Amino acid sequence: MARILITSAIPYINGIKHLGNLVGSQLPADLYARYMRARGHEVLFLCATDEHGTPAELAAAKAGKPVAEYCAEMWAVQDELGRGFRLSFDHFGRSSSPQNHRLTQHFAGKLAEAGLIEEVTEKQVYSIADGRFLPDRYIEGTCPNCGYDKARGDQCENCTKQLDPTDLIEPRSAISGSTELEVRETKHLYLRQSAMRGELRDWINSKTDWPILTTSIAKKWLDDGDGLQDRGITRDLDWGIPVKKGDADWPGMEGKVFYVWFDAPIEYIACAAEWVEAGKGPGSEKGWERWWRTDKGAEDVRYVQFMGKDNVPFHTLSFPATILGSGEPWKLVDYIKSFNYLNYDGGQFSTSQGRGVFMDQALEILPPDYWRWWLLSHAPETSDSEFTWEGFQQDVNKDLADVLGNFVSRITKFCRSKFGETVPEGGGYGPQEAALIADLEGRLRRYEAHMDAIDIRKAAAELRAIWVAGNEYLQSAAPWTAFKEDPERAAAITRFALNLIPFYAGLSAPFIPDAAAAMAEAMDVELAWPESAETALAALPGSHPFTVPDVMFTKIADEAREDWATRFAGTRG
Ligand code: 2FM
Ligand code: ZN
Repeated sequence: MARILITSAIPYINGIKHLGNLVGSQLPADLYARYMRARGHEVLFLCATDEHGTPAELAAAKAGKPVAEYCAEMWAVQDELGRGFRLSFDHFGRSSSPQNHRLTQHFAGKLAEAGLIEEVTEKQVYSIADGRFLPDRYIEGTCPNCGYDKARGDQCENCTKQLDPTDLIEPRSAISGSTELEVRETKHLYLRQSAMRGELRDWINSKTDWPILTTSIAKKWLDDGDGLQDRGITRDLDWGIPVKKGDADWPGMEGKVFYVWFDAPIEYIACAAEWVEAGKGPGSEKGWERWWRTDKGAEDVRYVQFMGKDNVPFHTLSFPATILGSGEPWKLVDYIKSFNYLNYDGGQFSTSQGRGVFMDQALEILPPDYWRWWLLSHAPETSDSEFTWEGFQQDVNKDLADVLGNFVSRITKFCRSKFGETVPEGGGYGPQEAALIADLEGRLRRYEAHMDAIDIRKAAAELRAIWVAGNEYLQSAAPWTAFKEDPERAAAITRFALNLIPFYAGLSAPFIPDAAAAMAEAMDVELAWPESAETALAALPGSHPFTVPDVMFTKIADEAREDWATRFAGTRG
């Protein structure tokens, strides 16, 4: 039994995530966590909300709420939606937790001791009316490029030009609208990542089994002159983790907080501490360290991270720089699974434009298994992939309703009508059953190999083929025909086909947990990963009771599809 630590990139707090976000980290991480648990490994699966930074402050202001209150509410919303999609986190934490405050300040202190933090004096815009320095995004004015009058100090939303606050014509504070701005000197902390370039390069180069998407992005950033610049890790915001050196104040840094991308990945560690302190982990307060400290048992943990490609530089370079630079024995990631983007119906999913399907909306119209199956079987692994309503309808109807659902319903109903609601005894197996066992044995091993390698689309294709094989068997063995001439043979076929249901339940659970649970319940068995096709298909003996499950998957009708396509084309209400 291995110990596997799994983290999903932690979603920003501001707003509900769309299906593209979901399939880019949380959902595949859940698939892997469920699979590894089913294989008997000890898994710790963590995720959290990413609560700091200007987007959180701005979203709270827009909602007219204090930022702490806004974050607490949005955490609860995201937590609930995670449950709705059956994301099996051991803990869903918050980057604003006291544990993360402590650890982030701890890391900053260690990095300073190691000489990896530089204090830099900069010129920055100060708002006299607001009594504070303004981050670039908090300064508005007229774009020198297109004349748009609500351009921000970092970028013009209208023409997308990257800007400096000093480029803006008639700049004003986005907080108060005041034009009483002046440039003042202020100090910020920089993490000297460039000093670690060699160490980081050696580490990345040693990862020869990582997905090309991950290593190509990491290497581009390492070798690109700009890539591994020293990085500002402090900001002038009210909301965030106050800049401290461990427990001690940091002279000159009063009123400043750490940059959101400095504290967010540290939340992966803090989340394990939150898990223990919430009473969900091992009893001892330090129990989380056996997952994170290589001097305290984590040396034999395998740590796997899931994320979208835009997050890769932070996880291959910045966070490892924090960990390595601390000089302490923290666990480094062993494998990074990264994803391309999922597009929506000929364009992009867009949070700002409300384009596409968001997690809450998805669950309003269909149960989670429909989404899980489609999204995972189309995971954007080697290239971007696209959600279309036609494709979704077609695949879900075929794979889930016509193949899997139909198989289960047909054989259980047939058995009930001819033999009653127990597995029929009598009759023997012949070459057809032997051939199917041999076929499924090979497929089972290939499916496991794809799941071990986190090749999600290939795994989904193999699982689909496993379902299809059962359907084809039933079609050709045709117990309803056999029943007329040879009821004993019909009993054997029926028994064999019924045995496929628990087999399917165990294998399908990581993808479609609700349907898998329903299948296991109908067959009156515990969900289990099959040792082999041969043993699994002999598991249900004659006279074992079962019930006919409710319809597992309803087909998506054309009218519903058209309706949804229209409803989700425009702006989120
Ligand atoms: O891209 C995002 O949604 C970020 N909030 C991911 C942060 S992952 C990590 F650093 F914690
Ligand atoms: Zn512009």
